[in-house]
Amino acid sequence: MDQERGSFSKMGFILAAAGSAVGLGNLWRFPFTVGENGGGVFVLMYLLSIIIIAIPVLLAEASLGRHTNKNPIGAFAMVKPGSSWPLVGLLGIICAFMILSFYAVIAGWTVAYFVKAVTGQFTNIGPEQAVASFGSFTSNSWLQLVLLAVFIVITVVVVSGGVAGGIEKCSKILMPVLLGILILLLIRSLTLKGAYEGVMFYLKPDFSKFSFKVVIAAIGQAFFSMSLGMGTMITYGSYVSKKDSLPSSCGWIAFFDTFIALMAGFIIFPAIFSQGMNPDQGSGVMFNVLPVLFSKMPGGSIFGSFFFLLLSIAALTSTISILEVPVSYLIDERKWKRKKASVLIGSIAFIIGICSALSNGGSSFFSNLPVFNIGFLDLWNMIWGNVALSVGALLEAIFVAYVWKTHKAVKEIKVGAQKFTLVKPWSFLIKYIVPVFIILILIGYFI
Ligand code: TRP
Repeated sequence: MDQERGSFSKMGFILAAAGSAVGLGNLWRFPFTVGENGGGVFVLMYLLSIIIIAIPVLLAEASLGRHTNKNPIGAFAMVKPGSSWPLVGLLGIICAFMILSFYAVIAGWTVAYFVKAVTGQFTNIGPEQAVASFGSFTSNSWLQLVLLAVFIVITVVVVSGGVAGGIEKCSKILMPVLLGILILLLIRSLTLKGAYEGVMFYLKPDFSKFSFKVVIAAIGQAFFSMSLGMGTMITYGSYVSKKDSLPSSCGWIAFFDTFIALMAGFIIFPAIFSQGMNPDQGSGVMFNVLPVLFSKMPGGSIFGSFFFLLLSIAALTSTISILEVPVSYLIDERKWKRKKASVLIGSIAFIIGICSALSNGGSSFFSNLPVFNIGFLDLWNMIWGNVALSVGALLEAIFVAYVWKTHKAVKEIKVGAQKFTLVKPWSFLIKYIVPVFIILILIGYFI
């Protein structure tokens, strides 16, 4: 295989793809989106979206990637030369810039909270203090810019060195340790006084809160969390060996990712309700409530330090996978060197990211945009994280089902898989359910 591209070893795909999937999407984005969309009813829609939409799309992306051995643009061009389908890949590459730009801001917050935990700032703090300290932290413009820069530089350094080896090793250690800490947090949160109310908010659907906005948020969250809709899994699929089984790998990835998101909810909501905090408080939820939770745990500073360190690493394995999409394109199609490509794209993402970094108090303009009346980061998260990923996944599904054709995709999926018993359900979902649902939801949302 091409030196500049690299490839995964056996198990490497599961580890790297799980590393891509598990990140801030699970621990930061999922809980605050649940909070903003009425709790249980959103969770129900989210689980449905995972099963009938996201998993089929994951398999479609991974098989297209492995079949073509290419970046997203190259993959579309190879299956349908001379068409305008590669534009879908281009949309994905634009998405990568945009998502990286705000994702790295939040990743910077996790690094800063790691430092806060290590320096013992999570002792004896109540909800008001936590909220106030978060507010003054995010309105410190210089600090926000430095944190963003630091995170992007680290991502660029790792991607410059080639993806395969590093992430695999990282994920192997990261996942079990992260899981261990999450279990401890879960126990602490569920045993707080008043935890039950949070569990009810989280699990009991209140159908009066149902709306198109809830459904699009749920589908968007499913795509975001599993790194779908912009070609990450096409790119990672392109590094997978023909000996690996795609269906079982994809099943494991979906399982891990969903499991961790669900755990995050069981940690955040009981803690929020027991502290009398508001579940619908936007993107700061996790940073407001976890310090309080840690300060109520014996050894809280130690667990807090570990937690934010691991979350920073989980975020890193995700930013790597986002940056890898445009980088693999420049390497394959433009014959750039890996290093040059990573540095250029990282720099552009930093510049766009400035708007998000200043949008939580740093700049009053970016914190409350005219017309939209929300902050830049929230707007970007909605446009690129929900709408653009949904459009991308829709076009990918149509491409795989009707241009590449399901029977050819199935042939690719079966390579390396002992058996793929779900041929019929998968074909049905990718041909009809995925496109029809996404189209209906998008239309409903915009009307
Ligand atoms: N899925 C990652 C998370 O949950 C973020 C991510 C990585 C992503 N690659 C992506 C999101 C591609 C959308 C598209 O944190």
